[in-house]
Amino acid sequence: MKNILVTGGAGFIGSAFVRRMVKLYPDYNIIVLDKLTYAGNLDNLLPVHDEPNYQFERGDIADRTTVQRVFEKHSVDTVVNFAADSHVDRSILEADAFVHTDVVGVYILLDIAKLVGVTRFHHISTDEVYGSIPEGSFPEDAPLSPNNPYSASKAGGELMVRAYHVTHGMHTTITRGSNTFGPYQYPEKVLPLFITEAIDNRPLPVYGNGMQVRDWLHVDDHASAVDLVLHRGQPGEVYNVGGENEQHNIDVTHMLLKLLGKPETLIRHVKDRPGHDRRYSIDCAKIQKLGWQRNDNFEQTLAATVEWYQKNEWWWRKIKTGEYLDYYKRQYEDRLAESK
Ligand code: NAD
Ligand code: DAU
Repeated sequence: MKNILVTGGAGFIGSAFVRRMVKLYPDYNIIVLDKLTYAGNLDNLLPVHDEPNYQFERGDIADRTTVQRVFEKHSVDTVVNFAADSHVDRSILEADAFVHTDVVGVYILLDIAKLVGVTRFHHISTDEVYGSIPEGSFPEDAPLSPNNPYSASKAGGELMVRAYHVTHGMHTTITRGSNTFGPYQYPEKVLPLFITEAIDNRPLPVYGNGMQVRDWLHVDDHASAVDLVLHRGQPGEVYNVGGENEQHNIDVTHMLLKLLGKPETLIRHVKDRPGHDRRYSIDCAKIQKLGWQRNDNFEQTLAATVEWYQKNEWWWRKIKTGEYLDYYKRQYEDRLAESK
């Protein structure tokens, strides 16, 4: 392993992984390939911008010519694929980009990886591929049962990864991560959305009764899990990566308001998300056996995350304009109006 291509490395989790790998492994060359969609942001990579073992290429993982050129130019031997359209609500509005990147893009990456003889292919998937579970936790061999266009596209992509392992003998691994939070997360996802809206004293749109459960995983723990699986994961295997920290949405909302010193009157219960999964829960024994340990203490890392957004308005204020506002309007104007 020497020349590692990190696709989607300008996004939230991909950039945390790149910042980690560039600093921790000076002998590896880390090459980022990212289309820079609305969610890709070179500010996320500023901390490594001048490092000699980091390079950036702009391009689409579903564009065969670009992918082959980048693989050959950098003698890529390892791929870590974070690139995706990643937001469930957007996939409900329109799923084209999800099929394009999360299914077709994964296939193109695999196919060029086979062509040029890449030796390791790690793919980032999600706990959402299992669907909702009322009680207990999904192990890795549970059937996939995705419920929204985003999770269906992620399931499609990872089945293609599996097929390239079984059919072509490629050394692949997959991680299925749970809801991830921390610095540099695009403020459409619930935590950065609620933090930045509350800072501006604007209403927080809690979907339905807020009793849905998500398992919160800190982004640095997610990145360390991918690092571990890349180095120690077994060919063809899938590993769940969870925070083992399940919270009702409404409870997390209360915690955020308390940390920010803002009133509970900011909470607005709005029309629910269609097909809203009630609870995600995964069993993480397999990756723990491989040697993964989380550093996270949720109360502390949530407080540190809130503080990061308070101190880094330069990062998120410029995002919340233009395309972001169009999307925000489409999502929330009717919902908020109905909730009054
Ligand atoms: P993100 O939306 O913040 O970043 C996605 C990145 O991929 C962006 O930089 C974007 O520009 C890039 N991208 C999109 N389409 C591309 C294309 N066609 N070609 C090249 N680059 C493209 O996403 P994230 O939250 O960092 O998620 C990263 C990965 O982790 C995704 O695969 C997602 O499914 C998975 N995941 C996310 C979470 C979470 O809670 N955020 C949890 C589990 C798994
Ligand atoms: O579980 C892993 C998945 O977590 C990842 O694969 C996805 O990429 C990531 O987006 C995330 O999906 P969710 O749909 O769980 O995340 P989101 O931040 O959109 O919502 C979290 C919960 O908060 C969910 O139950 C919906 C609710 N919510 C969300 C928004 C944006 C609200 O109540 N109000 C909101 O405005």
